Amino acid sequence: MGNSVVFITGASKGIGLAVATALLAQSHNVASYARTVTPELQALQDQYPQHLLTISGDVTDPAASSAAVTQAYKHFGRLDSLVLNVGIPAMGSTADTPVEEWRSVFEINVFSMIPTLNAALPLLRMVETGRILFTSSHTGVIPFPGLSATSASKAAVNSLARSIAVEEPNIITLAVHPGVVPTPGLATCISTAPPDVASVLRAGLDAPRGATGPTAVNDAAFVGKRFAWLAVNAPKSVSGRFFCHDEDEIVHLTDA
Ligand SMILES: NC(=O)c1ccc[n+]([C@@H]2O[C@H](COP(=O)([O-])OP(=O)(O)OC[C@H]3O[C@@H](n4cnc5c(N)ncnc54)[C@H](OP(=O)(O)O)[C@@H]3O)[C@@H](O)[C@H]2O)c1
Repeated sequence: MGNSVVFITGASKGIGLAVATALLAQSHNVASYARTVTPELQALQDQYPQHLLTISGDVTDPAASSAAVTQAYKHFGRLDSLVLNVGIPAMGSTADTPVEEWRSVFEINVFSMIPTLNAALPLLRMVETGRILFTSSHTGVIPFPGLSATSASKAAVNSLARSIAVEEPNIITLAVHPGVVPTPGLATCISTAPPDVASVLRAGLDAPRGATGPTAVNDAAFVGKRFAWLAVNAPKSVSGRFFCHDEDEIVHLTDA
């Protein structure tokens, strides 16, 4: 239990909402940054009015993202952790994906993080141990047919985590794959996938919960608890690294 201040991008639904929920349940403070206030996020706001600050904005707006970090810092008086969670999938093989789509994936999955990092890094240096958790994907290290732009963007995210870990020795920085998590984002991914890929994804979702490995399906609440723990407790030994949330090293830490 604690009172860390965590800024989360994309906490209005899906994995980000689950991370916010887990942190708030443990008395941490959360600044949520997303374009919309969903009914689920509003319910959290009503439940934790003192501990949740909801800021509406688009991660592709650099000034708004930077201002959101400053607003969170002024509101809570400190910043301990950043969870850079917004990411979109783009279904399409390299041969079929025009450069404009590659640019829009990289804009959201990679470049949008920079203004937030620019604003947050000086604040994270001010606390004894700042932390940054990137929501990554195993597609950044394992190829998946029809996801080349997304995969390349997540590889860039993993690289960014590695670079910050050496640039900022007092800020623990890591990238984590959440596994396959039924979320609005995954539903969009399936609905826009070519039929053969969509049927593989749908079949995977029917698999029983509780399996492990990068393609294992787990509910957002389960994954959100692990992410929440890492966002406020990740030790120095994991800084700069990429993990799947259910790798032994992570499970050993978070479930201890
Ligand atoms: N679900 C999976 O199986 C899975 C697997 C591997 C990796 N991931 C990664 O996990 C992360 C979260 O995925 P998810 O499945 O939870 O996605 P999701 O259900 O689509 O939720 C995405 C969140 O990001 C916000 N968002 C999207 N675009 C935004 C923008 N331009 N500005 C501000 N906020 C924006 C959305 O809120 P608003 O719409 O309100 O703005 C929402 O809160 C992503 O990085 C994804 O790549 C997910």
